[in-house]
Amino acid sequence: MPCNCCEITDSAFTEEEAKAELRQYRRRGPMKQTKLMLEAIRSLRLKKANLIDIGGGIGAIHHELLGDVADEATHVDASSAYLKEAKQEAARRGHSEQVRFIHADFTDVASELPKADIVTLDRVVCCYPDFRRLLKAAAEHSQRALAFTYPREVWYLRIGLTVINFFQTLRRDPFRVFLHPVAEMDAFLKREGFTRVTLRRLFVWEMALYQRL
Ligand SMILES: C[S@@+](CC[C@H](N)C(=O)[O-])C[C@H]1O[C@@H](n2cnc3c(N)ncnc32)[C@H](O)[C@@H]1O
Repeated sequence: MPCNCCEITDSAFTEEEAKAELRQYRRRGPMKQTKLMLEAIRSLRLKKANLIDIGGGIGAIHHELLGDVADEATHVDASSAYLKEAKQEAARRGHSEQVRFIHADFTDVASELPKADIVTLDRVVCCYPDFRRLLKAAAEHSQRALAFTYPREVWYLRIGLTVINFFQTLRRDPFRVFLHPVAEMDAFLKREGFTRVTLRRLFVWEMALYQRL
């Protein structure tokens, strides 16, 4: 089930939200689940890697990893507001030459992009209706590692996300959040040739790191 992702996420992730997230990142650094992902990726001890960050938002993952792990990154995002802030921050850090920014639904442009050592999706599968389509495109582009975060499959999030989607329906806003089945995502990635090497949990988010076998 493809979605008209750019249109939907452009209205869901506004310029004000993107600016607020960048301000918070500058003040406090990456969010907790992003820190777990960075820590897991760093544990692989890769150097001069290339990275594809899908739905990278304000770009925290490449801002951080370009310092030690990666020497180039591609940031594909369906939100133009987030991309604008990510670009500004990359320029401030002197990373403009190392990051390619693409405004698109990753599944639409994946076939035109080269593979990378690391592919990341931080809080992205939960914005996308068809996790198989998104994870397939992500897995096909990862030569070594794939890390992603997603909401945990627990009763309080089942209720929470149902409430959010209910209000989205009332507002006639087509953006929905999805609680995808973790066991099915794991089985899917295993069939794509990956093995899970790290799994960390917070109250809301779970972070999984996979390596290509
Ligand atoms: C909740 S935000 C997370 C941003 C960032 N990764 C973070 O954790 O702060 C979700 C992001 O994923 C993007 N997104 C969702 N589906 C996408 C897709 N199929 N292709 C590219 N970007 C996508 C949205 O535009 C948005 O920037």
